[in-house]
Amino acid sequence: MYLPKNCRVITIGDGDLSFSRALLEHIPPNNLIATTYDSEDGLRNKYTRNALDDLLSAGVMVKHSVDIKDSASVTRLPQNFADIVIFNHPLVPSQHSDVTPQKERKKRANLANRDLLYRFLKHSFAMLLNPEGQRLCYITSKSVKPYSDWHIETSLTLNRPYQFLGNQVFNLSLFKNYMVRKVDKDKYVKHEESKVYVYSDKNAHPINGYLTAFRFAEDKCCPICRVGPLTHADDWKNHHNTRLHKTQQQYHDLWSAHCHLNYQYL
Ligand SMILES: C[S@@+](CC[C@H](N)C(=O)[O-])C[C@H]1O[C@@H](n2cnc3c(N)ncnc32)[C@H](O)[C@@H]1O
Repeated sequence: MYLPKNCRVITIGDGDLSFSRALLEHIPPNNLIATTYDSEDGLRNKYTRNALDDLLSAGVMVKHSVDIKDSASVTRLPQNFADIVIFNHPLVPSQHSDVTPQKERKKRANLANRDLLYRFLKHSFAMLLNPEGQRLCYITSKSVKPYSDWHIETSLTLNRPYQFLGNQVFNLSLFKNYMVRKVDKDKYVKHEESKVYVYSDKNAHPINGYLTAFRFAEDKCCPICRVGPLTHADDWKNHHNTRLHKTQQQYHDLWSAHCHLNYQYL
């Protein structure tokens, strides 16, 4: 993870705060603001082992009940503070009592998670990043289903002033004692390969040298299925008839309709 010397970082939705604590090996305490979606009581009750007291003793500012989707909630944080805003393993909590059929639930969850990430980027760029700083947002996520169905490389930046620059493998060994927490219970998520997806409104950024670009954005590729190049018309026709493409197209269309209705951008 690209963390230039003396950079200032805000972490978003940091479950038990163990990632923020691990960041202290890379940046000084007064360069970090850690946030949780849970209230302080909620955090202490849900995660019996958490890093809150370690962060407070180190002098880190910790803010609770920060909903990154809600601009009023984001105004409670110091504005224009950060060089980098990081959201690791974002996930909207699911409704356990939901009796909707599984296929519908998957579509709803897909939309809800894209919306969370869309607003994370929107509010971070508008309110949290220093206009004179590095201007970077990181989303760390696994690249398997259902996360890969969010089209994280292409769905979050259309008609926005920032771009997806590329990804980097998340190197867990750099973050001592960081455990990814389940969103709604005192359990850990199994560690699997994850990537850091990087966004910026600076095109020629020094971070580019460390990133892998999204190759399916190229001509003759299908970016939503991450397939290609498909050079012949027949290959395209066959691809459009696959179950993979039909499913991904459905997610894409639902998201476009949602953005049109709510953001009037697409
Ligand atoms: C799978 S957990 C990962 C927790 C932590 N980031 C980690 O890496 O261990 C998903 C996290 O997303 C957070 N989250 C979900 N919706 C959010 C929102 N609207 N604003 C801020 N955080 C949110 C949850 O509180 C939860 O901590």
